[in-house]
Amino acid sequence: MTSHTFVHQGPLTGAINVPGDKSISHRSLMFAGLAVGRSTIHGLLEGEDVLSTAAAMRAFGAQITRGDDGTWTVDGVGVGSLLEPRQALDMGNSGTSTRLLMGLVASHPITATFIGDASLSGRPMKRVIDPLSLMGASFEASAGGTLPLMLRGASPAVPITYRLPVASAQVKSAVLLAGLNTPGITRVIEPVPTRDHTERMLTGFGVKLEVGAENGEAVIGIHGEAELRPMDVVVPGDPSSAAFFMVAASIVPGSDLTIRNVGLNPTRAGLLQVLRQMGADIEEVDAREVGGEPVADLRVRHAQLSGIDVDPAIAPAMIDEFPVLFVAAALASGTTRTTGLEELRVKESDRLATMAAALQLAGARVEEHEDGLTIHGTGDDPLTGTPEGANVATRLDHRIAMSMAVAGLVSRNGVSVDDTSPINTSFPTFMGLLDEAAR
Ligand code: S3P
Repeated sequence: MTSHTFVHQGPLTGAINVPGDKSISHRSLMFAGLAVGRSTIHGLLEGEDVLSTAAAMRAFGAQITRGDDGTWTVDGVGVGSLLEPRQALDMGNSGTSTRLLMGLVASHPITATFIGDASLSGRPMKRVIDPLSLMGASFEASAGGTLPLMLRGASPAVPITYRLPVASAQVKSAVLLAGLNTPGITRVIEPVPTRDHTERMLTGFGVKLEVGAENGEAVIGIHGEAELRPMDVVVPGDPSSAAFFMVAASIVPGSDLTIRNVGLNPTRAGLLQVLRQMGADIEEVDAREVGGEPVADLRVRHAQLSGIDVDPAIAPAMIDEFPVLFVAAALASGTTRTTGLEELRVKESDRLATMAAALQLAGARVEEHEDGLTIHGTGDDPLTGTPEGANVATRLDHRIAMSMAVAGLVSRNGVSVDDTSPINTSFPTFMGLLDEAAR
């Protein structure tokens, strides 16, 4: 455990680059690892979660190397030719690696065991076990449907039509990835749209996908026994990492910060919309496309935010950004209410409970409900916790650590985070960039 105290340091200024998108980085390694031939990846996020995916794809037979210039080269094994891993696959803290790779294994004639850290080992896997069992895979999971878990793939797997019971891009992607090596068409019905990187990227890799609508719900069909052609992938900057700096520059007086190359896929850009509704001053500069995704540089200036009722319909488009939105709400004038956020209880930590406790320690007025938080903001006054400073528990959750780091910047007595090491799962350059921007 590495603890750190975050204190007020002055306005955030200058220009920073956030690292590559985590969701896109995972998928680029998986899809390149399934292609026939050599792919390259530029701008890959080199965080621990993505490195867990790289290690697993190597265990399945892909050859993956990193060049000195940071370009990754992947020689794929081809759909249908995954090797059986010789050891348990250690997924660390990464739910995305686990659930998507379970999908991949489910339609291959191999057995794989998945293990992870204490946080990941508490997270629900039944949501992927259910559809993958319908496709013919078999499982031996720990009590409660958690890791450690052994998965035996089906050969051939059976195509299904599966309606998502939870709004989850990971579950959607697990079924679509299982569909890659399944004869016929595997379909996912998505009542609520979630991030669509799997669909966009698989199309780029040459897979035949059909996206339609039925009764107002999206239906995504994937043609199985697919052959993926290699690609040169460019990974845009991660909006979920940019989020910490968007909020920090919005709430620290005097800030004027440019965050370069931020992915603005509409299925990810919910925080930008909500911060603007609260009165944030965020300008999109040089809007362009990177790797098939919309991106822009964001110029963020301090603004007095106002509390709002956040529309629960926007939750999937900012599902990872709520912890830091709660920090913005703690500085807004008036009350911010969030609802419909039950999913936050099964992320890397229970993010409603963990953030409520952490923000209260830091001096914010927060009420926790079953499906959200109500936060009464200070109206731009610094947070005032106990004189010795708040000492908050991260619970192996990178986004709690970074959100409370941002809270420290607007705290009179500072915020101590018990463990900053989980930040390395998604944003290894966070501490350096914070020093650089707040100097
Ligand atoms: C992700 C989907 C989301 C998100 C996670 C990454 C993905 O999870 O929270 O950080 O890359 O598909 P859910 O599918 O559980 O909502």
